[in-house]
Amino acid sequence: METAARTAPATVIVAIDGPAGTGKSSTSKAVAAKLGFGYLDTGAQYRAITWWMLANGIDVNDPAAVATAAAKPAIVSGTDPAAPTITVDGTDVSGPIRTKDVTAAVSAVSAVPEVRARITDLQRSIAATAEPGIVVEGRDIGSTVLPDADVKVFLTASPEARAARRSGELKGKEAADLAATQAALAKRDHADSNRKTSPLTKAEDAVEVDTTELTLDQVIECVVTLIEEKRSA
Ligand code: DC
Repeated sequence: METAARTAPATVIVAIDGPAGTGKSSTSKAVAAKLGFGYLDTGAQYRAITWWMLANGIDVNDPAAVATAAAKPAIVSGTDPAAPTITVDGTDVSGPIRTKDVTAAVSAVSAVPEVRARITDLQRSIAATAEPGIVVEGRDIGSTVLPDADVKVFLTASPEARAARRSGELKGKEAADLAATQAALAKRDHADSNRKTSPLTKAEDAVEVDTTELTLDQVIECVVTLIEEKRSA
């Protein structure tokens, strides 16, 4: 009896870009979990290399010093959306990478071309081996890292909504200071959008979703629908 030829389903690559506080991480993790895909938080990788620079006394405002050290730390990302992990030289840094010091330094470190080249290579190799798909969230995924992604989404939200969401993730005194959170986000956006190498930008073929008035569930639904439309096309 002849068996029908079966073709393996192609890996589906989903790029979700946008500034902080637009719901990128929550959306990306939930979409990946729903579809049985992997999940890669590329911001965590830039935070991890920044954490290593600070821990090793590298002057993060000296691009030459950062460039020289960029190849040294071994950064490993675990892509299970239910429990994403990130280690540097074998140490779990998922907590330390969220500190204020790392957040304040990450834009300067991630603007250095040698850092971007290193982390971009890492991201591409993770995406290349993903099965049956992966949701990759960041700033330049659709535009630079994975320009052939099957689905590209660019999330936006008003500055007020973004600051309120980010405040909700912070604790105690930091959370109370909404104006300071909004100012810090604006500063980081400016640095991330104006760096020379691979700035935060919407890819021409990305679908822009303004999440200001949407619930998280609505954003998730919207992205899942875009992916399913693409898969059935
Ligand atoms: O998503 P996040 O806030 O954790 O990202 C931290 C920083 O990392 C962000 O301010 C800019 C940088 N980043 C980047 O340059 N490119 C990416 N693809 C993701 C993050």
